[in-house]
Amino acid sequence: MRIDKFLSQLKFCSRNDVKDFLKTHEVILDGKRVVERSFEFNPEHQNMMIDHEVIFYANPIHLAVFKPKGYLSANKDKLHPCVIELIKSPYHRFDYAIAGRLDIDAEGLLILTTDGALAHQITHPKSHLPKTYEVIQDADFKHEKDLLKGVIIKDGKNELYQAKALDMMTNKNHVILKIDEGKFHQVKRMFQAVGYEVLELKRTHIGKLSLDDLKPGGYRQFRKEDLYD
Ligand code: URA
Repeated sequence: MRIDKFLSQLKFCSRNDVKDFLKTHEVILDGKRVVERSFEFNPEHQNMMIDHEVIFYANPIHLAVFKPKGYLSANKDKLHPCVIELIKSPYHRFDYAIAGRLDIDAEGLLILTTDGALAHQITHPKSHLPKTYEVIQDADFKHEKDLLKGVIIKDGKNELYQAKALDMMTNKNHVILKIDEGKFHQVKRMFQAVGYEVLELKRTHIGKLSLDDLKPGGYRQFRKEDLYD
């Protein structure tokens, strides 16, 4: 990769400012200072130091994030904090796609990835990647059979859709639900369809990937193999 592309991609400076950046900052590769903007190197195999700091680089990067309640599954918003703001050094320099959003009042596992194709693959309706949710209802839940059989809900385009639970476990008003679809507000709408209101919603698993010991606001890097069976 050319060094000007690398420096601008990792947001050290704009592509136009690379010449100045290389003059005013000590960019070292294999022990030698780099001054040419067209210099080529392999960021996956060669370590770069800028002003005595080793620069982290990986491609792709997949992050499992514990989205806290109150955060938007988005990059930027004027009103609300966004999940991207949770990502700190050294991961903050990369551009992420959000694979499968959670509502602002929901919490739990959210995937950020620099691999656009993987994000597409995870969210594509045909992928049927199972997701598990822990849900607290406004009353003891007694309609497992209905959700396992399938209920009609409206999707994001207000079209009717038959949504089905793959698996369920119920303890009073606490329900663990597995689905392999991802329609707009799907879990809330499935419970609404049988007369309940979701009070709390937490996603614990996507495919094989789980929250494990992540705490709200925390994140960890994972490999694509951690997601699929
Ligand atoms: N279903 C919902 O209703 N909300 C979410 O955030 C995720 C799934």
